[in-house]
Amino acid sequence: MQKIAPSILSADGSRLGEEIAAVEAAGADLLHIDIMDGHFVPNLTIGPGLVASLRHRTRLPFDVHLMIENPERYIDEFAKAGSDWITVHVEAAVHLHRIVHLIREKGVRAGVSLNPATPLSLVEPILPEIDLLLIMTVNPGFGGQKFIAGMLPKIAAAKRLIREAAPEVLIEVDGGVTLKNIRSIADAGADMLVAGSSVFGSGDYAETIGAMKSLLAAPTVTV
Ligand code: DX5
Ligand code: ZN
Repeated sequence: MQKIAPSILSADGSRLGEEIAAVEAAGADLLHIDIMDGHFVPNLTIGPGLVASLRHRTRLPFDVHLMIENPERYIDEFAKAGSDWITVHVEAAVHLHRIVHLIREKGVRAGVSLNPATPLSLVEPILPEIDLLLIMTVNPGFGGQKFIAGMLPKIAAAKRLIREAAPEVLIEVDGGVTLKNIRSIADAGADMLVAGSSVFGSGDYAETIGAMKSLLAAPTVTV
């Protein structure tokens, strides 16, 4: 079954440890951690020091999404901070192969992300060397934005490409995932679903994650 990765961007930052424990208890599969530098995206979040301290608070795998320029400068620190996955943006990486290999050399799984307007063809050459393709379905920078519906065909095209070129690569979808659209996103080919505001903005995390998992587990209805 597909995995749910709550994004702590929408959590109550004054109680981050408790919020993480709460989504872990509620059935989250991974923790999505958004790193923003105020350059690649118009927002700022946290650095490796805070990620390292959160590492002691949960057993959930850390899915670290770097929305930063010059990501190669920070791979070592985020690996040491306890990342299980590190994803860099193709738009921010001048030497993508080098960065992907740097991530893998640290024993961390390597992801590459595409902004909504960036074509899939840009990652085609590197697919056999990565573990994860992250498809942004909002323009990165903020939680709580609306899913760009035109991204569904891009997810489906990525799935077809991966099936042919690198079947082990997982597809993660990030941005605007809700109870309303999660099933169609999964049907298009997503393996990992990031959910920020739809989880942390809900009254009951266990109910929301449980409802997401039921929708994902429901059989496909054909008429
Ligand atoms: C946006 C971040 C997302 C964000 C998603 O730039 O990469 O991970 O937290 O938030 P929602 O799920 O609210 O769209
Ligand atoms: Zn993200």
